[in-house]
Amino acid sequence: MSLTAFSFPTRTLYGAGALAELPAALAKLGVSRPLVVTDGGLVKTEAFAQLASVLGASNQGKTWFVFDGVHPNPIEEDVRQAAAALRENQCDGVVAIGGGSPLDAGKAARLLARRPGFDLAKFYDESDWSGLLPLVAIPTTAGTGSEVGRSSVITLDATHRKAVLFNPEMLAKLVILDPALTVGLPPHLTAATGADALTHCIESFTCPSFHPMCDGIALEGARLIFDALPKAYRDGQDLTARGHMLVAAAMGAVAFQKDLGVVHSLAHPLSSICGMHHGLANALCLVASMRLCSARRPGLYRRVGQAAGLEVIQLSDAEADRVTIAFMESFLAGLGLNRKLSQFGVKPEHLDALVAQAWEDPCHQTNAAPVTLADLRALYLEVL
Ligand SMILES: NC(=O)c1ccc[n+]([C@@H]2O[C@H](COP(=O)([O-])OP(=O)(O)OC[C@H]3O[C@@H](n4cnc5c(N)ncnc54)[C@H](O)[C@@H]3O)[C@@H](O)[C@H]2O)c1
Ligand SMILES: [Fe+2]
Repeated sequence: MSLTAFSFPTRTLYGAGALAELPAALAKLGVSRPLVVTDGGLVKTEAFAQLASVLGASNQGKTWFVFDGVHPNPIEEDVRQAAAALRENQCDGVVAIGGGSPLDAGKAARLLARRPGFDLAKFYDESDWSGLLPLVAIPTTAGTGSEVGRSSVITLDATHRKAVLFNPEMLAKLVILDPALTVGLPPHLTAATGADALTHCIESFTCPSFHPMCDGIALEGARLIFDALPKAYRDGQDLTARGHMLVAAAMGAVAFQKDLGVVHSLAHPLSSICGMHHGLANALCLVASMRLCSARRPGLYRRVGQAAGLEVIQLSDAEADRVTIAFMESFLAGLGLNRKLSQFGVKPEHLDALVAQAWEDPCHQTNAAPVTLADLRALYLEVL
């Protein structure tokens, strides 16, 4: 029996209005000059206005500072610039607020603030990650769960590929899940980010390693998403649905400490080569990948079907999967996600590069069933 580590460590404050706890939480962490890391879209939202109000709008540039240059699918330069802002303003902590992109950039910037000039492409050579500035992570999308994760997904200059920088020291000291911050997220982003969270739950539950704690969390996360995502999509002001989505997204990311699968290997190159939103890329690849996995491991999705409230207990393995996958197809269609890659600018001439990068991506190595290079090509062709 091999040894496995189970880890559920992040303190999380949950509830509408939880943001008001931020100043006291920062004081408790010894942070008196935080840098807020976010993106140019978010600074124009009501969510950012609420943050500014909680930190004291007139103190911006005096006791708290803002770096808002993070790109969607963040690049190395975003991390370097955020680290420079940390140093220039003599900040003693990071408040990362936004979707996965600013959260990931804010997490990684702390390493470069401590080690200016460090080559992020060599992150695995860095043995000492201690002493990073404290991080408070505040998601405004319910998708990536980056707020509770130990990794940061950055497109590296050297490879133009998404790299998953991983170290437990990267964890936030505190997570604030405040559904009031997500009510302004438009329906198409609510759907796409929610599909990312759902993909985390499904891929982590079905990947083969032994982790019953994560399996339980993944299934309950999926159950919450099946119930709450259509509600949040239809009515962005539904605070209960928004709240359940935030918790479920965090659960998805806790669950994928177990592992992920082929859908994420297909999705990563769609972002780095074609600029596609990560959740959207997952959503468009999910059903085809489930069909492939089910053909190799019939019955794989029975418990996912149960989490969706489907009557699949008495069915044969193949039939339980068929019913569950058909449900998934209509569930995604109800969120406007029954689309093809070609509708988002992906062209047949991208295919070779997509397949090559997906093959190099490590996620498919932990897929529910082994996949080949030819499988990756066939999956892309099916959803093109
Ligand atoms: N670290 C991890 O564990 C992990 C896991 C999955 C994905 N990711 C990464 O996260 C990134 C994707 O994150 P994302 O899907 O959250 O998208 P994102 O952070 O790129 O945000 C997408 C858009 O939504 C806008 N937005 C965010 N919150 C809003 C709000 N409340 N109201 C209005 N607009 C809002 C942003 O301004 C941005 O334009 C990708 O780079 C992906 O690779 C990381
Ligand atoms: Fe993801």
